[in-house]
Amino acid sequence: MLFSQGENMKIAILISGRGSNLKAILNAEEKKQLGQAEVILVVSNNSKAKGIEIAKSFDKKTISLEANNFKTKEAYEKELGDIIENHSVDLIVLAGFMRILSLYFINKFRNKIINIHPSLLPSFPGLNAQKQALDSGVRVSGCTVHFVNEHVDAGPIILQKAVEIVEDESEFSLSEKILKEEHKLLPQSIKMISEAKVKIEQNKVRIVK
Ligand code: GAR
Repeated sequence: MLFSQGENMKIAILISGRGSNLKAILNAEEKKQLGQAEVILVVSNNSKAKGIEIAKSFDKKTISLEANNFKTKEAYEKELGDIIENHSVDLIVLAGFMRILSLYFINKFRNKIINIHPSLLPSFPGLNAQKQALDSGVRVSGCTVHFVNEHVDAGPIILQKAVEIVEDESEFSLSEKILKEEHKLLPQSIKMISEAKVKIEQNKVRIVK
């Protein structure tokens, strides 16, 4: 597994903005609903992200790492990778982190990065997933937690939750409906990983009972 059995699984959460998924994870941790997982670090690529204040209110260490302070994407990701390694992080959680990670970073931390996306992948990857779902006319959408691979919003799927799209659904109402489920799905996925219940086999996740 990713970490030594019997020890806590150390998590870094990467954010870019609002931080509501971060808050859901920290609430779960506070209520002892995060299994063996412990949030040790929150990194934001935006120093003005609301999520930074949320992390601080839970007494979490925060680091702002803005891309425009680095000459290249490589230099940015080298620094991010060094921070992750220096904190002995076992799992990186992308919670609304709106930067595409390069193959260099993904290979360095393969099978140690998870992401939440507001659609039922593989449908509607990329930006504005809720609008994409509405525009396509599907009757259900939802959210997905998955391991990150070299493709955008792809990689072995850990958990998904569907929500119904009703007549005259707005992008706002659909986003809210999905977000409510995201807030349960991401902590639940982290808990399962920390309890070694999530295995990757032939590019698919097997949930061990
Ligand atoms: C969430 O809806 C998350 O699924 C989405 O950004 C939002 C972040 O909200 N992520 C993506 O679209 C990634 N492709 P939050 O900052 O309140 O957690």
